[in-house]
Amino acid sequence: MTQEHKRLRSVVKGVGSALPKRCVSNRELEREVDTTDEWIVQRTGIEQRYIAGDDETTSTLGAAAARAALATADCLAEDIDLIICATSTPDYTFPSAATMIQADLGITKGVAFDVQAVCAGFVFAVATADKFLTSGSHKRALVIGAETFSRILDWRDRTTCVLFGDGAGAIVLEAQEAQAAEGTAADRGVLTSQLRSDGRHRAKLYVDGGPSTTQTTGHLRMEGKEVFRFAVGQVTDVMREAFAATGTTADDLDWFVPHQANRRIIDASAQKLGIAPGKVVTTVQFHGNTSAASIPLALSVACADGRIKRGDLVMIEAIGGGFTWGAVIIRW
Ligand code: ACO
Repeated sequence: MTQEHKRLRSVVKGVGSALPKRCVSNRELEREVDTTDEWIVQRTGIEQRYIAGDDETTSTLGAAAARAALATADCLAEDIDLIICATSTPDYTFPSAATMIQADLGITKGVAFDVQAVCAGFVFAVATADKFLTSGSHKRALVIGAETFSRILDWRDRTTCVLFGDGAGAIVLEAQEAQAAEGTAADRGVLTSQLRSDGRHRAKLYVDGGPSTTQTTGHLRMEGKEVFRFAVGQVTDVMREAFAATGTTADDLDWFVPHQANRRIIDASAQKLGIAPGKVVTTVQFHGNTSAASIPLALSVACADGRIKRGDLVMIEAIGGGFTWGAVIIRW
């Protein structure tokens, strides 16, 4: 008798987040930067952001988010055999933030590494973890998005410094058998991931320093209008492909949790795909753009307030520097 081998799915067991102690409102920023609350809210929807203090780094925020995710997953640190941290602002050029978080959590087994795809980092990290878990090589993963973008902002450049904030979010993924051998869209877990990159767009969004060029950390530079145009014009391709790969449509989605860069980009992308406004999770007003941390922060908010529930169909989607972009559909 042949035994049926069911495929594995990466199922979300828990989610958590962490923010720096200091919250900075637009009004407070007005004192330091030539800007206004009205300009920021109208152009971006951002009302406040959190800024890391000297004692707060990407890895300390990431470790705090990981602990919160482990608590909701009812898992111990020792149950984890894979840690992937998405970040463009690690504490040091090396070692990775992931290995620092691993040590902070007291984990000595398994593997830990960073993924760098700027604001799309968390989507890339979930897709990467899913490949490890569904191959059967690893059992339980912490996937973290953690950033301290305040450290790479040029605070004299009002066109960029008002947009970003610091923070971290994390999820625990566990390899579980799907209901059927081939897997269906009714399974819990990651159902598909669609990733893209196109390096020709580097000059539109980049950091002007690094170890191999200037030997400095550098500052973020951005052509805001160009990024906006690409984000709304192109990014929906991966979302369409994610729907096609799972045989689902915008109507089947319970929640759309996009990268939180700008309310106008979020609204325009949802509208283009026919996703009802009531299904869109928006937290950019509270956190600003926290790059790779923005999606797990938003997931954490929407799980804590009871919106995202077990069995819900959730799409996460992001675009970041490079450009890099991607979408993942998860049944919670
Ligand atoms: N406060 C007040 N005025 C400002 C500010 C500010 N912080 N920044 C720019 N201005 C002024 C400009 O100087 C300009 O003045 P002028 O008309 O006298 O020359 C005016 O506001 C309009 O500037 P624009 O750059 O045309 O403003 P725009 O409407 O394009 O909005 C923005 C700028 C918000 C950056 C927009 O282009 C955008 O949202 N782009 C998307 C970029 C983004 O979200 N990136 C996030 C990082 S990438 C990612 O996460 C994927």
